[in-house]
Amino acid sequence: MSDTITIKKPFDSHVHLRRGAMLRAVTPITAEKFCSAIVMPNTDPPIETCEQAAEYKKEILGALPRGVSFEPLMTLYLTKNLTPVDIEKGAAGDVCEIHAVKSYPYGATTNSQWGYRSILEAKDVLKKMEEVGMPLLLHGEVHVDENEHEVDAYEGEKRFIEDVLPRLLEQYPNLKISLEHLSTKIAAEFLEKNGKADKLVATVTPHHLLYAREDVESKPLLRCKPLIKSAADRDKVRELVAEGLPFISAGTDSAPHPESKKFASPAAFGVFNSPVAVELYTQVFDEMNALDKLEGFLSVNGPRFFGVEVSTETITLVKKDWQVTEPVTTDEGINIWPIGDVKHGLGNETVHWQIKQ
Ligand code: DOR
Ligand code: ZN
Repeated sequence: MSDTITIKKPFDSHVHLRRGAMLRAVTPITAEKFCSAIVMPNTDPPIETCEQAAEYKKEILGALPRGVSFEPLMTLYLTKNLTPVDIEKGAAGDVCEIHAVKSYPYGATTNSQWGYRSILEAKDVLKKMEEVGMPLLLHGEVHVDENEHEVDAYEGEKRFIEDVLPRLLEQYPNLKISLEHLSTKIAAEFLEKNGKADKLVATVTPHHLLYAREDVESKPLLRCKPLIKSAADRDKVRELVAEGLPFISAGTDSAPHPESKKFASPAAFGVFNSPVAVELYTQVFDEMNALDKLEGFLSVNGPRFFGVEVSTETITLVKKDWQVTEPVTTDEGINIWPIGDVKHGLGNETVHWQIKQ
């Protein structure tokens, strides 16, 4: 197998850049490794109007190092304040072009307190999205069910795939949907069967490809939603990405938190992986003997779904060991620890691929 690979510059279909000092610390890292990214709207306060998205985009562009070109693609949070008028305005793009709307199930994860309990409640907004072709990005977990019972967090994605997604697909047959950070065998099988490049797609994180529940339950840096599942789930998701399907793309879900929140009890949900994500994806594809499928997954399928250009730049990766040993530190002195860090990891943190400078 080859020890070097050149691919079009990657596209991150799912990233959290936060605001303020955190944004200034993490944005240059994403911009160095990715040509463009779909930026999540779950800041505090949430991004729920085109005006807020425009202001947020300006802050991101302001954090780019001189000479770096990076296109942040903005999204709106599906809060109860979001209306069909916002969708029309976002699609028209006069104030700020909106590329997707993100749904968080109420209470399931970081800053999800503004979400609906069930996506099926958001009828008028979903109708309008279907009409104008605005993609819906789903945090596909049932957190509280229809009888107000809290669902076991390991079962939330399964419940969503079984109980909610089929109804959503039936009620909105033309809605463009992306199932985010797919983490279970059942979700992978659902996508294998029903995925379609311009209609029903999914993103996969590096951490859901690398780790299994048994290994990570005591590791705060790997605590995230959806939770990391069993080895069997992980292995099915690995198999799915290695198939090279046009509707599966890289969404890092890089979600930075200050060390005070990650090493608190309970640890905040979110894995910070942007310093090492492209390299880890490459490692997984190499392990799966599927490096020929890497470019589609990392650089082509995401932009195609969102109707934007694939990058004309390229990056080259070489097979060479290295380790992450330091946190990223904000200009206010706050540390953010990436996964792959040797101090807090599982003991097997050597990364086997590097981006050639
Ligand atoms: O682990 C997660 N962290 N999952 C999410 O859905 C949100 C994210 C965050 O914003 O920290
Ligand atoms: Zn996320």
